[in-house]
Amino acid sequence: MTSNERGQWKSRLGFIFAAAGSAIGLGNIWRFPYIVGENGGSAFLLVYLLMILFLGLPVLIGEVMLGKASQRDPVGAFEVLDRKGTPWRFIGFMGVLAAFMILSFYSVVAGWCIEFVIRSAAGDFSPTAHPAKAAQAFNVLVSSPDVQIYYHGFFILMVVGIVYAGVQAGLQRWCEILMPLLLLILVALVFFAMSQSGAKAGVAFLLEPDFQKLNGDAILAAMGQCFFSLSLGMGAMLTYGSYLRPEDNVVSSASWVVVLDSGIAIFAGFVIFPIVFSFGVDPGAGPGLVFVSLPMAFQKITAGSLISLAFFVLLLAAALTSAISLLEVISAYFVDEFKMPRHLAATMFGVICFLMGVGVAFNIAYLENFLDYWASNFILPLGALFISLFVGWRLDQKIARSEFAKSKFAKAFGLWLFCVRYVAPVLIAIVFINKSGIVEAVSKLFGAAP
Ligand code: PHE
Repeated sequence: MTSNERGQWKSRLGFIFAAAGSAIGLGNIWRFPYIVGENGGSAFLLVYLLMILFLGLPVLIGEVMLGKASQRDPVGAFEVLDRKGTPWRFIGFMGVLAAFMILSFYSVVAGWCIEFVIRSAAGDFSPTAHPAKAAQAFNVLVSSPDVQIYYHGFFILMVVGIVYAGVQAGLQRWCEILMPLLLLILVALVFFAMSQSGAKAGVAFLLEPDFQKLNGDAILAAMGQCFFSLSLGMGAMLTYGSYLRPEDNVVSSASWVVVLDSGIAIFAGFVIFPIVFSFGVDPGAGPGLVFVSLPMAFQKITAGSLISLAFFVLLLAAALTSAISLLEVISAYFVDEFKMPRHLAATMFGVICFLMGVGVAFNIAYLENFLDYWASNFILPLGALFISLFVGWRLDQKIARSEFAKSKFAKAFGLWLFCVRYVAPVLIAIVFINKSGIVEAVSKLFGAAP
């Protein structure tokens, strides 16, 4: 199959927009602030940034490289680079499975954003609205499966539409529209948030390290967030890398994606914490931080409707450019491996993800305890672990060496190789053993408090 049949980015910038679009999502704007809040703020941020640098960036470079070198989907890539039927291809199968699981709950959460966009436009989060409208919006929504299913269906429809249109006319085109829009709204919101009374407290919460709050759990959470936020470990970045042209550089493009993803997460913190501190809501409020605390704060702002509208449009745009990368992983697998037409793959698997998500609308616990839990805590770290092992120990080193030689970072090759060979596998193994409950089980066995 020629690369033209499967699609290709029109320019290097197209890849950067799309890959940054995949990385920047609910993970940055919804998940990151509440994880930072729950783990005590600034010291957590520092650990997170170190993880991004020594774990996220090296694995990202590796994953994109696998895609570019093989020009195939996440399963076929390992067959091209190793041999037909290689056991490494199970990394790809796991990735396709994770894509189904993540997309089906991600789309429900994205559907919540649609409801909040509509409510913002209707003025529910303005100072003149009844306080209950903001305080209860989230609870009312999550206890109405039918409403959630409509929004979830509508969101999946948009995702299918974009993937259906292909790499250039769909993915690249929409990311080139939505990413600048997202940046624009975010910058405007940062200016607004920084002019509020709690700006100083909010920034201090994010930037003045308090190492006493740093414990083992926080370190684990930082690592989980690093994978989720960079869309790592399940083949999304591999698939996007497979649409790169030979002349495009992996190392510098991946570095851009990391800078944009972390930058936007921090910017989102600069929006959310100043608002949270200005209006006396709890920064450690958990997943409801964005959907419960913020609307309550918006009700105290004169221009609350406009600000909340901007915020939820931002969240929706970010979710859309991430969700398309999830459906793209599934579609690429069926297009490359089974020669299925792209249109059919996008539609069929979009419908399946829709049906899987319906379960979430009826029972949120299914999101937290099954889909997100297994995909984010089990499949992503395991995928990243095997990807770094494959890239570090199995892949022909000439491929990586020449990518580095062609970039401005030629001298970093040794450091990168050290990271994918040793640092990443060891760190991930520690996280993985912890998350799988083995440590707790062992400590219980010896009678120690976990
Ligand atoms: N990175 C996305 C986010 O931050 C989530 C995602 C994970 C997307 C895995 C694709 C693959 O929201």
